[in-house]
Amino acid sequence: MKAIIYQEYGSTENLKLQEINQPEPKADEVLIKVLAASVNQADRHLLSGTPFPVRFTTGLFRPKFQTLGADVSGVIKSIGKNISQFKVGDEVYGDLSGIGFGGFAEYAVAKEEALAIKPKNLSFGETAAMPMASVTALQGLRDLGEIQKGDEVLINGASGGVGGFAVQIAKAYGTRVTAVCSGRNEDLAKIQGADEVIDYSLRDFTKEDRKFDLILDGPVNHSLSEIERVLKGNGRYVAFGFSMEALLLGSWKSFRTGKKFETLLAKAKQADLKLMANLADEGKIKPYIQQSFTLDEVPQALDLLINGKVSGKLAITI
Ligand SMILES: NC(=O)c1ccc[n+]([C@@H]2O[C@H](COP(=O)([O-])OP(=O)(O)OC[C@H]3O[C@@H](n4cnc5c(N)ncnc54)[C@H](OP(=O)(O)O)[C@@H]3O)[C@@H](O)[C@H]2O)c1
Repeated sequence: MKAIIYQEYGSTENLKLQEINQPEPKADEVLIKVLAASVNQADRHLLSGTPFPVRFTTGLFRPKFQTLGADVSGVIKSIGKNISQFKVGDEVYGDLSGIGFGGFAEYAVAKEEALAIKPKNLSFGETAAMPMASVTALQGLRDLGEIQKGDEVLINGASGGVGGFAVQIAKAYGTRVTAVCSGRNEDLAKIQGADEVIDYSLRDFTKEDRKFDLILDGPVNHSLSEIERVLKGNGRYVAFGFSMEALLLGSWKSFRTGKKFETLLAKAKQADLKLMANLADEGKIKPYIQQSFTLDEVPQALDLLINGKVSGKLAITI
């Protein structure tokens, strides 16, 4: 089968389209004919081996997993003997990050827990844009953010992969959403349901008089003290982008202020994938795909993501 392979940490120049052996599913795995994938910032971190701590799981000097790609959608081709939830021919989608990635390939293996039946209303490309980004948004808003109907929610980084889903999920919970993104993405944020859009090049949300019940933050470009200023008394702040300050000082700041400062590490869960598929089928969330690429164009797609030129998601059709 064809797959995108890399053997050294570095840039997208290290990614090569090669012929490799098709993976064999173990007893607790299924084999998927991958019809679409999508790129995530996680692929960029695995490709470059940065920040350095990622290498403790992905290989200290050389990448342990040679095919990137967490998000996939496709059709089940064969199943291991312990598989009970899926059968051959099922159309599924899921997140392979827990099993060593491998989505930028014609076939991939996955465990049941990381898969769900694909939403019926979406194409394979749209579906492949959902797993990692939508589940991160959901877990940030619901689990750490304790989102409630009627909340004033602010999404910083609202036009990105995670942020675009966060706006839609927060609206599905019946909240009022303020989206922070660049002016070029204002229309997209409104289409996704934002009640108000703040162009970060014109206004700094931490300097405004308004206060929020919940702030979900991808860019993490403000200090915790600046964030605290615009959180209500029982407000919750969830950083899903990397924040050393939130990691080291979040608990202390929460204890001192009575507000909640959290850092999210999302994890693929079947129940959450099912919930996202239901929301998609109900028309409450729809991925925005800026552009689609073919398997051999994965390096171009990743370059676009690395250069910060993506609104919504990029799909790979295989
Ligand atoms: N914790 C977890 O489990 C987890 C899971 C997934 C992702 N992540 C991390 O979360 C971060 C975001 O991921 P993503 O997939 O959403 O990335 P993405 O698709 O690249 O989106 C980033 C967005 O941030 C916006 N942005 C850039 N500068 C900004 C600023 N100064 N103020 C407000 N928004 C700004 C950009 O919007 P404009 O184009 O409009 O400027 C862009 O759309 C990454 O660091 C990723 O590694 C963490």
